[in-house]
Amino acid sequence: MDAALDALHDALPDLRLLTEASELAHYGRDWTRRWTPAPRAIALPASVDEVVGIVRWARGQGVALVPSGGRTGLSGGAVAAHGELVVSLERMNKVRGFDPVDRLLTVQAGIPLQMAQEAARTHGLQYPVDFAARGSCTIGGNIATNAGGIRVLRYGNTREWIAGLTVVTGDGEVLRLNNGLVKNSSGYDLRHLLIGAEGTLGIVVEAMLKLTAPPPPTQVMLLALPDFDAVLAAFSTLREGLRLEAFEFFTALALKHVLAHGGQRPFDDDHAFYAVVEYANEDEADEVAALSLFEQGLDNGWALDGVIAASQAQAAQLWRLREGITESLASHTPYKNDVALRISALPAFLQEAERLISDEYPQFEVVWFGHIGDGNLHINVLKPADLPQADFVRDCERVTKLLADVLERHGGSISAEHGIGLVKKPYLLGTRSAEEVAVMQGIKRVLDPDGILNPGKLFD
Ligand code: FAD
Ligand code: MLT
Ligand code: ZN
Repeated sequence: MDAALDALHDALPDLRLLTEASELAHYGRDWTRRWTPAPRAIALPASVDEVVGIVRWARGQGVALVPSGGRTGLSGGAVAAHGELVVSLERMNKVRGFDPVDRLLTVQAGIPLQMAQEAARTHGLQYPVDFAARGSCTIGGNIATNAGGIRVLRYGNTREWIAGLTVVTGDGEVLRLNNGLVKNSSGYDLRHLLIGAEGTLGIVVEAMLKLTAPPPPTQVMLLALPDFDAVLAAFSTLREGLRLEAFEFFTALALKHVLAHGGQRPFDDDHAFYAVVEYANEDEADEVAALSLFEQGLDNGWALDGVIAASQAQAAQLWRLREGITESLASHTPYKNDVALRISALPAFLQEAERLISDEYPQFEVVWFGHIGDGNLHINVLKPADLPQADFVRDCERVTKLLADVLERHGGSISAEHGIGLVKKPYLLGTRSAEEVAVMQGIKRVLDPDGILNPGKLFD
């Protein structure tokens, strides 16, 4: 152990610390796999007091801290590559309480999303933020990235579901924010500053999650579609006639990769685009409406084929075709774009972006998918096996700069839901003005005066 770690041990003798090489490698990276992990050690605090002690020690020693959840992040936010102390919340993973009157579930920040969802269900309610990493990602990480997912068009992002937060700031203060109140017009809502801050302003240690009524019975439909215009036409038509819970699209190439990892081929023919649609299906009228809209799609040419799940198992199978994409692409070390636009700006943006991508990446496989109902597209560029990672990233960064310019012209954002982290840092100024970034930096100086919290992430 180094002298700084000795001092940490002296200050917090019960704090669990990991220093084995395999542990440093495991906790020092996220899903980006681009940076070589090199943290100094891993701290696994078990209480708020231990988190406070770690922050005070870090200030005294000038050691950087990297808050860490499930490390499923896709922007490098949880990467520790420069001798930082990783602060993993994984031992702080309990449900602390439930209030049926307020419909609030209080959890420690290291609880996996799926455990929070299950806890909500045991009380006959739901926590509706949801996506494929649910088993590994944590509520703390979801808050720090303002995670979105597959149900945003019905329920909104993580931000909508946080009624209270306890955080330890970079100067070691414990802030208890908003206390579960529905209304609280008493000055700046600091809770919302912490949501989406990517661990640069404070370490989230506890959260009060709003719960809501369970979803209605639903049905899942998979559509085959000829092109992007058809995806948009299907979305606006189905949104008018059904209560949509989710509307997700993916391309033929995405399906090819998912099927290569297992999974059931949905149609005999190949199609350019697919959409998984989940909608409320409470009575016969809903069923009739869905069928008639689908037939309308066939007549109007936006739908080429479709399947409606005949059972829960088939619904899960159809969802796997969409939810399995990230995993199926992982071995290709994809360069991930996660862009957001107003839905009304999508058609014009898509025209330009599709041209740019096909002109600039003629040699790479590019997989499009995402949450079209939220204006959120995932454009994944796959690395050819024989191309060195550094050359691949250099080329992708050149094109991302061009894509960021297109986004700026169409009023979009370079990060919809994955955060800026390290991956999107060079493009932040295309989405946020210099004045805004200066205000963000000023806020950081107040809450993290020594710059010990996740330095180098989001901005320098
Ligand atoms: P980490 O990766 O550990 O950390 C992410 C960021 O949060 C880092 O900056 C870290 O420093 C910070 N952080 C972590 N914990 C804390 C804390 N307690 N206090 C302060 N800061 C903290 N994201 C979506 O939004 N929508 C999706 O649909 C989606 N699907 C995914 C599917 C798969 C298969 C995978 C692998 C990822 C997906 N993601 C998605 C990305 C990722 O799961 C989310 O960003 C998630 O919110 C990260 O949570 P985590 O606990 O893994 O955070
Ligand atoms: C998704 O929508 O599946 C996620 O954001 C993950 C990804 O972009 O790979
Ligand atoms: Zn996504």
